[in-house]
Amino acid sequence: MKRIGIVTSGGDCSGMNAAIRSATRTALGMGVQVVGFRKGYLGVLKGDHLEMGSKEVAGILHRGGTFLQSARSDEFRTEAGREKAVRRIREIGVEGLVIIGGDGSLKGALALHRLGVPVIGIPASIDNDIPFTDMALGVDTALNNIIYAVDCIKDTASSHDRAFVIEVMGRNSGYLATMAAIATGAEYAIIPEVEVDLAELCNQLRHRYEEGRSNAIILMAEGAGKAENIAETIKDAIGFETRVTVLGHYQRGGAPSYFDRMIGSRLGNVAAKLLLAGERGKMVGLNCSEIVATPLESVVVSEKRQQDELFGLAAILGV
Ligand code: F6P
Repeated sequence: MKRIGIVTSGGDCSGMNAAIRSATRTALGMGVQVVGFRKGYLGVLKGDHLEMGSKEVAGILHRGGTFLQSARSDEFRTEAGREKAVRRIREIGVEGLVIIGGDGSLKGALALHRLGVPVIGIPASIDNDIPFTDMALGVDTALNNIIYAVDCIKDTASSHDRAFVIEVMGRNSGYLATMAAIATGAEYAIIPEVEVDLAELCNQLRHRYEEGRSNAIILMAEGAGKAENIAETIKDAIGFETRVTVLGHYQRGGAPSYFDRMIGSRLGNVAAKLLLAGERGKMVGLNCSEIVATPLESVVVSEKRQQDELFGLAAILGV
């Protein structure tokens, strides 16, 4: 291979830039040209790309998001769109791709692999819902963002004897809500994977109020419903005055943590090396500190193991 491409696709996250920079410099160091496609699969379909030397990826390691930008493309989800993408990739002379993104992006990567394009995927999603990796890119930074915000909210909550329902991201996943509940000492996590017992939630919060505690924090994953609705339902039963904060896309941005810079750099390096060594159709992930490659076929049909034990821990610590 003489020329490879890099794509960041789906929801952006902190650490993507570290992976782009590392894959680029690894390939350049092996004498291979690198192009970056702009705006995910949309850019691939349009052939919108830039030539990337070492200088093009300088100054991005500490920045959140992805300097290549990202997008979701409906056309790429169709068979005709994917065939068009393959034609564009070939026109540009790109012989293989490193694709950085979440579950939808990795499904796209597998589709390209099946159409004969050599690909290696890198898991990137703050939801941490991608199997065969302990952590995806962006998760650690997002959790640090959430912890910072919840600590701030707790200060003001304590000054007013208030309960806050704080909505965090996670369309189908309660990972962020569960982990942030443990790390912030929140009283309750409401997640899509477990049905919430509202009567028990109200009892627990009322008990806290009667004990004279000064605040209560409920962390709720967006996929478990609307924070406003929960707040409205519980507000007359818990004693505390109730407020809602939706953290939204704040969670996804910001300077990547040490951990995201490190795994971005390691995953980008191994992805480029594997691609150039002739590996195809795999995703690199972190398994107990080691970088391992798993066939995309297995990744897209598997579900990440639910964190029952950790949800239980959040419940024990929240009393
Ligand atoms: O998949 C990651 C994620 O951050 C989800 O938790 C969230 O629901 C979604 O992306 C938001 O997507 P968008 O940026 O398109 O609104």
